[in-house]
Amino acid sequence: MVINIIINNFVVLGHLAMYICSCRALTDKDVGNAIRSGADRPSAVYESCGCKPDCGRCVNRIVNMLKEHKKDAVSA
Ligand code: FES
Repeated sequence: MVINIIINNFVVLGHLAMYICSCRALTDKDVGNAIRSGADRPSAVYESCGCKPDCGRCVNRIVNMLKEHKKDAVSA
């Protein structure tokens, strides 16, 4: 059985994925894969995921993931 819970307005899926974009159902794994594939800005992430943003509420979350990825790349 898979249980989904909501923490701080994020839906955490039972298999440990988390929705970053509720309009396009993009999870942290989807966005992370796009970033690791070379997406370097939110529009590139959406393009890599085959969609366009709707409400835009997720842009800051994606920007934060991009910043974290850059930070990790610098420290590695
Ligand atoms: S939450 Fe991503 S476009 Fe609305």
